[in-house]
Order: sequence, then C-alpha cells, then structure tokens
Amino acid sequence: MSKFKKNFLWGGATAANQLEGAYNKDGKGLSIADVLPGGPKRFEIVNQPDFKFEIDEGTYKYPNHLAINHYERFKEDIEMFAEMGFKVYRFSVAWSRIFPQGDENTPNEKGLKFYDQVIDECLKYGIEPVITISHYEMPLNLVTKYGGWKNKKLIEFYERYSNVVLNRWYKKVKYWMTFNEINSAQHFPIMSQGLVNSNGALDKKNVFQAWHNQFVASARAVKIGHELDKNLQIGAMILYGTSYSIDANPKNQMANLENNQEFNNFCGDVQSRGQYPAYTKRYMKKYGVKLSDLDITKEDLKQIKEGTVDYIGFSYYMSTVTDITGTENKKATGNFIGGSVNPFLKSSEWGWQIDPMGLRIALNELYDRYQKPLFIVENGLGAKDEINEKGEIDDYYRIDYLKQHIQAMSDAVDDGVDLMGYTPWGCIDLVSASTGQMSKRYGFIYVDLDDDGNGTMNRYKKKSFNWYKNVIKTNGETL
Ligand code: BG6
Repeated sequence: MSKFKKNFLWGGATAANQLEGAYNKDGKGLSIADVLPGGPKRFEIVNQPDFKFEIDEGTYKYPNHLAINHYERFKEDIEMFAEMGFKVYRFSVAWSRIFPQGDENTPNEKGLKFYDQVIDECLKYGIEPVITISHYEMPLNLVTKYGGWKNKKLIEFYERYSNVVLNRWYKKVKYWMTFNEINSAQHFPIMSQGLVNSNGALDKKNVFQAWHNQFVASARAVKIGHELDKNLQIGAMILYGTSYSIDANPKNQMANLENNQEFNNFCGDVQSRGQYPAYTKRYMKKYGVKLSDLDITKEDLKQIKEGTVDYIGFSYYMSTVTDITGTENKKATGNFIGGSVNPFLKSSEWGWQIDPMGLRIALNELYDRYQKPLFIVENGLGAKDEINEKGEIDDYYRIDYLKQHIQAMSDAVDDGVDLMGYTPWGCIDLVSASTGQMSKRYGFIYVDLDDDGNGTMNRYKKKSFNWYKNVIKTNGETL
C-alpha cells in the first residue's frame, strides 16, 4: 500500500532563468542571472573585485540567454509533463519580465501574458501550477542602482511585483513560494540577494540586512495572498543540507548544531515562527554583527509576525559533515555548501554527496521543528547523459537515485511526517545554476543542446520518463 496521501502532489520543478531563454524578448529587462557567465568558474568570476554586472560576450558564454527556449516551446514541454501524469508543475516567474527594471509603477503586459499562457496550458491538462515568485532572477537594475537586497527600497518593489502576480493568478494558482532557497545567501548571496564581493557581500552585515528585508517582503506577500484568498498556500523555500558531526567529539557536535541552526534553520525559523530565533545574537556575533547594527523597525517585526508561511518547501540534494577538530578534514568539493567528506557516502560527478537517509532525517527534523506540511520542491541527480547506439538515454543512475529518495520519503511519512508533494528538480534538462552548464542534466526529458550552445534543442524521453510516469500512476507504490 502506498504511504503517500491520495492527493499527493507529484510533479517537477524548473526556474525561469534556467529554461526559458528569450532573455531580452517582449520587453524583458536584464536579470542578475543574465550577467552570470556560463561554466564552473561562474562564482569565482563574479566575486573578482572588478566584476561589473555586465554582459561580456567577447570573454564569456551565457547559456541562460537562450537556455532551452522554453519561452517558445512551453506547450510541447507541458504536454510531456502531462504525459508523465504530473499533478503539479513548479516554475518561477521572471521578475524582470513583469517589471523589467524592477522599480517601475506599471507591469509589462507582455510578460504577464506569457505566464497566462503557461498557467492555462498546465490547467488544460489538470496540472496545478506551483509558482516561485523569485528564483535567482531579480531585475539587474535593482542590483546596479540600489545595491541589491541590502537596500530597504527592495521591499516595496517586491511587494508591488508580488501584488501584481498574486492578483493576476490567485484564482488559478493555489500554491506559491516567496523566495527560492532564501538561506543560500550564507554561501553565495549573488543569486538571491544580488550581492558579490564588489558590492558588499564580504560584509556580513549586508547579508543579514538583505535577509531581514526579504523576511519583511515575504511576509507582505503572504499577507497579500491571504487577503485575496485565505486558502492560498504560500510557502518558504529552504536549501536543506542535512548536517552530521564527523564524530562524537562534543566540539564537533556543538559546531554541527550551530551549522544546522545557522544554515538550515535560521530563515525558516523567521518565516515560519514569525520571529528571530534565540541564537540570532550568537550567529551574528560570529561575523561581528549586532542586531542593533541593522535597520529593523517595530513595524517590520510586526509584519514578519503576521505573515508566516503555510508550509515549508525545501530542496534536498545531499548531506554535509561538520569537522572542526580536523581529524578527518578532507573537504567535499564541487557542491554549493561545503563541508567535509563523508566516508559512508558516494558522490555525484559534481561532488554532491548522495544520501537518501539524509532526506528522511531532513523530513523528520523539519516536521519536528515546524509542525507544518512539508513540500520537497527540488531533489535529483545532476549527471552527464549520453544517447546510446540504439538512440536511447538509459539514465539508470538517476532512476536509482530517485528511487532511494522516494523510498526515504515513504519511510518519513511512516515516521509521521506530513508530506504534501514532490517535484524533482529540472524535470526537463536545463542550465545548471551553480555551473552554468547544460551538461549537468537532471531531467526525465533530454534536450539536445551542449555547453557551447550546439544542438537541435529537440526533446527526447529518457528511460526515467516512463519510470517516473509509473511512480506517479501508482502513487509511489511501484518504484
Ligand atoms: C538549487 C536551485 O540550488 O539547485 C536550482 O534552486 C538549481 O536553481 C538546483 O539548478 C541544482 O543545482 P545546479 O547547480 O546543479 O543547477
């Protein structure tokens, strides 16, 4: 018997800047993602002291500009999602399609019309849209003119934007998320906060101020949504990396507790409980910051209290290890969030440590902490796929990864966790966020395109396509 609810939300997830392409069409303004060079060195490049937030086609490639041209091919893509039996499709709205500069008073109607069509196409097949309001694609002007999220003016701009999109689609879209992986700024504040070394990322005070502004903005969006319809479900979205201590040394245990609080819990605690957690002071002190250094008003705190989220959305790809005593301090490489190597786990080709049990632990930790429904809105294996002599893409390694993670979800449900749904990442191949590569693929659907932009962009079903279709059909019973 399936452990999952009858109406479990099976589906897939994407983000506008990673699949739409059409980066300057129909009035779209540039977003922060449009100036990120392709390739594994993208974060290094943007953190050079002279980084200018400009497109430099002479030096770099920008795979996101064309991406997989979902902007023109969305009907074909959604038809394939429907064939797999998706109940939901998580995608993001590109803020810079709606407000090209971010600070205008009137939205760009052409941008809104594009998402009208995407939403209607989903609904035609009975697929419920799940919208991320901001997924690593803030308008570039908000970075160059205002300095990114550390500026309080952004609260107002985000409020205007979320007001427009919520009003436009609240009758058609029940599930929303305010910010993708809001906690990711601890490690790479460029994508969610618009901060790099040259404009303030090195001073952690700016990151904390930016978070605070985002907490207020998120709370206002939740409030707007609930005033439109109290049944709207508006969630947080946390990048969760289950974290273990390397050993029983109390020093490592304590450091691991701190890592968990600061990375995995801090943002969710504010967004879900409506107040800063007790350990905030200690967390900030580590970086020489005091709460009183920040611009936080009573009204802000009131709004944060009033705008708590309905559910906890999170991404889960890997676990990490804390080792401050240095007994076993070989660092895991290639992943977003660092940590040491776990000798019990294998890693993906990009160094992400694969840990299905870590997902069961994450689900239990999050549910114990918040007692709110959980939604796994990203999970998956980034891997290189090849078309074999028979013309097939046999991604058995991806099936294996997903199978084990869905089993872990089922076990967590048995543990008593309230799990709403599961939308594996990059259900169709798209451009990687951390490395800007096409060759790091997650999809059930293969897109014929390489890292240099060569290929037909035709879509092909991988072996995992029919496998996942059957998982959905049997509500997770047959893996
Ligand atoms: C999450 C992001 O961090 O992980 C996605 O929300 C991203 O935007 C995904 O694509 C996978 O990471 P990557 O770097 O392999 O694309």
